[in-house]
Amino acid sequence: MNAYIIEGGRPLYGTARVHGAKNSVLPILAATVLCQGTSVIHNCPDLSDVRASLAILEHLGCKVARAGDTITVDASVVTGNDVPDRLMREMRSSVIFLGAILARTGAAELSMPGGCELGPRPIDLHLSAIRALGAEIREEGGALHCSIPGGRLQGCEYALALPSVGATENAMLCACGAEGTTVITNAAREPEIVDLQTFLRAAGADVRGAGSSVVTVRGVGGLHGGEHTVLPDRIVAATLLSAAASAGGEVELLDTDYRQLSTVTAVLAEAGCRVRSGPDRVTLRRDQPLKGVRPIRTAPYPGFPTDAQPPVMAALAKGTGTTVFVENMFESRYRHVDELCRMGADIRVEGRVAVVCGVERLHGAGLRAADLRGGAALVVAALGAEGRSELTGLDHIDRGYQELEATLRSLGADITRTGGPLQNL
Ligand code: EPZ
Repeated sequence: MNAYIIEGGRPLYGTARVHGAKNSVLPILAATVLCQGTSVIHNCPDLSDVRASLAILEHLGCKVARAGDTITVDASVVTGNDVPDRLMREMRSSVIFLGAILARTGAAELSMPGGCELGPRPIDLHLSAIRALGAEIREEGGALHCSIPGGRLQGCEYALALPSVGATENAMLCACGAEGTTVITNAAREPEIVDLQTFLRAAGADVRGAGSSVVTVRGVGGLHGGEHTVLPDRIVAATLLSAAASAGGEVELLDTDYRQLSTVTAVLAEAGCRVRSGPDRVTLRRDQPLKGVRPIRTAPYPGFPTDAQPPVMAALAKGTGTTVFVENMFESRYRHVDELCRMGADIRVEGRVAVVCGVERLHGAGLRAADLRGGAALVVAALGAEGRSELTGLDHIDRGYQELEATLRSLGADITRTGGPLQNL
């Protein structure tokens, strides 16, 4: 059984580099299906979700290779148009391949992605955007059967009911294969969508507006391969800053765009941390007990990121004062709360609201991760707790953090991993 053994109470000191963003690599790997050539993507972390995406690409007939943090995808020949049930279950966000497969091959077969640990994960916005482009999608037998009755996808004006990250990305990828121009309004504005646009333009696509609420795609026919370096993972950065806030000390993060983290660093500064930002780095120092802060409401970018809610909550669980969290993005994103309470935290949850009353100290405990960011939150809390914690469920953490224990050890944490390394699929 994989587990982290963490001896808490040691402040963190030093400098760490933030690896490439999982939520940028995944849609970019899907985008390589549109490219009738070879794409080269740098700064790709080795994560189980990335390995799942590479397995999908190979299933589609692409040739993939990894050399260090560079992934090469040769999609000159795409022989398949389905994502097998095993891989859909491995990673529900595999739905991001739908638009690209349909645009490249004219058909797509995907099993319906189930919910996940965060609650139901509907894809109605993905499907309605792709239907608006001229696709026919039949949902039967727990699978999606997609085709293009008119032979070609047609550009259109499409307003997303919600600024969904995945639906924005799926619509962009599908629109690359459409005739004419597509204007997506109420688009999500996450930095990962800007990164996807940068890759698509490097591959010859005509995509503009990413990062704003209006993204415009002009179909240009097939794309050639593109080369791109993935942006740093702002949620990994938020997690490491939360770890320093929890354990105390002073940590400098390199390869971090502070502008993409401003809602998180503002909260940690209000809680009493000293935060300094440079063009590509952020430094956080904490030498006083954290204080409660004004209510934290998660929201689409540039609001407070839902993915940073669990690690920031874990840091604020120890200290003085009270903080109210309102989780507006997902129904079930407080699964780390019960585990934090096992460590002595005083947190009450009422629906989407969590009231965190800071306690003077947390104590180590036997813990189990139930989802990706909730698991990271338990690491954050254990680093600031007194005594030993044993954390299982690392398969969740391995989805989004590359060698988290090595990074934390390099900063002085007493953390070891028992059992094997990252599991192959
Ligand atoms: C992306 O998920 C991220 N995943 C999530 O990160 C992140 O939490 C989320 O965006 C919000 O920022 C990837 O990029 C792979 P959404 P996504 O569509 O695209 C509802 C992590 O920890 N919705 O923006 O699935 C949905 O239920 C993961 O790295 C519909 O109703 O998120 C949610 O309430 C977790 N219908 C809201 O929109 C749809 O068709 C926002 O979801 C799609 C979404």
